[in-house]
Amino acid sequence: MKRITFLLFASLIATVFLLGCEENTKPNDWTDQSEVDPEASTDEKRQITIGLSMDTLIEERWERDRDMFKEAVEAQGAEVVVKAANGNDALQIAQAETMISQGVDLLVLVPHNAEAAATIVGRAQLADIPVISYDRLVKNANVDLYISFDNEQVGVLQAEAMIDVVPQGKYAYIGGASTDNNAHLIKEGVFRVLQPLIDRGDIVVVYDQWTEAWMPMHAKENMRAALAANDNEIDAVIAANDATAGAVIEALTEVGLNGQVPVAGQDAELLGVQRVLSGEQLMTVYKSIRSLTEQAADIAVRMAKGEVIETDIKVNNGKKDVPTLFLTPVTVNADNIETTVIEDGFHTHEDIFE
Ligand code: GAL
Repeated sequence: MKRITFLLFASLIATVFLLGCEENTKPNDWTDQSEVDPEASTDEKRQITIGLSMDTLIEERWERDRDMFKEAVEAQGAEVVVKAANGNDALQIAQAETMISQGVDLLVLVPHNAEAAATIVGRAQLADIPVISYDRLVKNANVDLYISFDNEQVGVLQAEAMIDVVPQGKYAYIGGASTDNNAHLIKEGVFRVLQPLIDRGDIVVVYDQWTEAWMPMHAKENMRAALAANDNEIDAVIAANDATAGAVIEALTEVGLNGQVPVAGQDAELLGVQRVLSGEQLMTVYKSIRSLTEQAADIAVRMAKGEVIETDIKVNNGKKDVPTLFLTPVTVNADNIETTVIEDGFHTHEDIFE
């Protein structure tokens, strides 16, 4: 009897001791007290993990998006897991599934294909993980929030700059990837400005093609085809971004027309800005990636903690009216490089001018 009592008592002591230890072995919760708010609930103490699923890192801007977003999220004590799919839908879906099964708290999604990415949103929703559609809208899916620049306005800025210098003549339109909802929005903005001039017969759009996967080599082939079909008689080219604008200018160079035919671009890539400076490119459109990533990071961490974000505007993606935040794009031309991309710290004076 004494022996049994002793054994019972000993095991009771052991259990109490073990419970104490377990809590101590979770370093994130206990060891680093400086970062943890003692008032916060257990959930708030746990480190938030944001998954960032990207289409590609090929264009200069996406590396910036990745780095600046990571910086902004980590500044709030959360962490980011990044995966880029190199333009491959199946890979993007598989990568996102991995992040979902690893239990990220929220997924930030830059879809390669606006429709195919709906699968990812569906999977995340089943796992109760909110999804932010970043820069590009996912169509026909239960997205929780959409944050981007006003992409129609990007097209408007490009076309307004172009009709200013070429109010009459033959235009070529080199669009973005048809799988990307942004390419459609940019084109809508361009043609909203051009249409009245087309209706008046001042402008004729003699070539209009999407560029597969936004690839410069396809844009170059398109521009070669446009020149060939029009005996090199093209007066203006609007290209959906700087990477495709650079390819257009290579094709123009092959027929000795570079610097003579104005070309519009977007993204304010370093090479794009330098071409604007040299006069080979008419303009580009600057989108403050710093502002986009900081706002997206702030919202992502708050939503990951369960906050519901209210917005003034909503965009219908074919499935629902998605709460939306739009940032404003800015025209960059040879006269305002200092006050736009340099002043905002996107490029340095040395990078551009030296
Ligand atoms: C678009 C984006 C542009 C562009 C392009 C190519 O969705 O808005 O900034 O660079 O993708 O990746």
